Amino acid sequence: MASQHEDDDEDDIDPIKMLLQNKLEIDNRLPTEHDAEETQRHYIRSIDSTVVIRQLPFEGLSFQLWPAATTLVTLLDNHRVDPTNIALSRTLSTVSKGLDHPKINILELGSGTGLVGIAAASILGANVTVTDLPHVISNLEFNIEANADILTLQGGSVRAKPLRWGEAEDVEKIGRDYDLIMASDVVYHQHLFEPLIETLRLLLGGEERMVFVMAHLKRWKKESAFFKRAKKLFQVETIHVDNPREGSRTGVVVYRFAAKQQKLTIC
Ligand SMILES: C[S@@+](CC[C@H](N)C(=O)[O-])C[C@H]1O[C@@H](n2cnc3c(N)ncnc32)[C@H](O)[C@@H]1O
Repeated sequence: MASQHEDDDEDDIDPIKMLLQNKLEIDNRLPTEHDAEETQRHYIRSIDSTVVIRQLPFEGLSFQLWPAATTLVTLLDNHRVDPTNIALSRTLSTVSKGLDHPKINILELGSGTGLVGIAAASILGANVTVTDLPHVISNLEFNIEANADILTLQGGSVRAKPLRWGEAEDVEKIGRDYDLIMASDVVYHQHLFEPLIETLRLLLGGEERMVFVMAHLKRWKKESAFFKRAKKLFQVETIHVDNPREGSRTGVVVYRFAAKQQKLTIC
């Protein structure tokens, strides 16, 4: 049983505070209840373009940008500037080398506002499927449309589809024809750990070439249960660690998940 001390510790890092910190960096002001929607502009230097994202803060957390998303976008941007210089590049080059089609097919889980997927499609010239709960899809479609010109210019494409974690029928509908799976800040509520693991198992299981890149900002000790379970099922490697932001004890960590290597049976 968790001690009182541990419970107190769990509260030290407040996700809402994290969100506000992230928003402050961009907006330089606190949101007010009058903010019906917010438009954020993310300059991506490798393609000299600005991705525009609509947030609907009062619709809930699925409609806001979480801190780990910007880490993934920065890493993708840095990769395009200098692919020899960052850890993510090793994963991306391995994925690209194994392709028998011209563009990388990427699946993003729990896309929220869609920044990561739209940026990945633009930076890598990839075909990206952004996914989330059904009620989040219309905002994702809005954001894809808002960036249509950049996507066309960079030879990327993005489509939005519902994909509920833990629902095998959603995975069947969306298919497994992807080279890379990505997500940011998807490990937060304990009741979602197992459904997310199940979706990953359905997507990565048996597909030795498929990898999952996940950016994560640790907030609670209970999250270790997710990683403990994940390590039983997949090979999990840390590929990047951000410095903590001001006021935080931890920085965003980027993990690479892959199917466990099959053991060779020697007869
Ligand atoms: C913390 S937000 C992160 C959003 C975005 N990836 C980002 O970093 O800005 C978690 C996302 O997971 C989605 N999500 C939560 N439960 C889900 C489920 N059962 N199936 C699919 N997506 C889910 C939420 O709707 C939300 O968009």
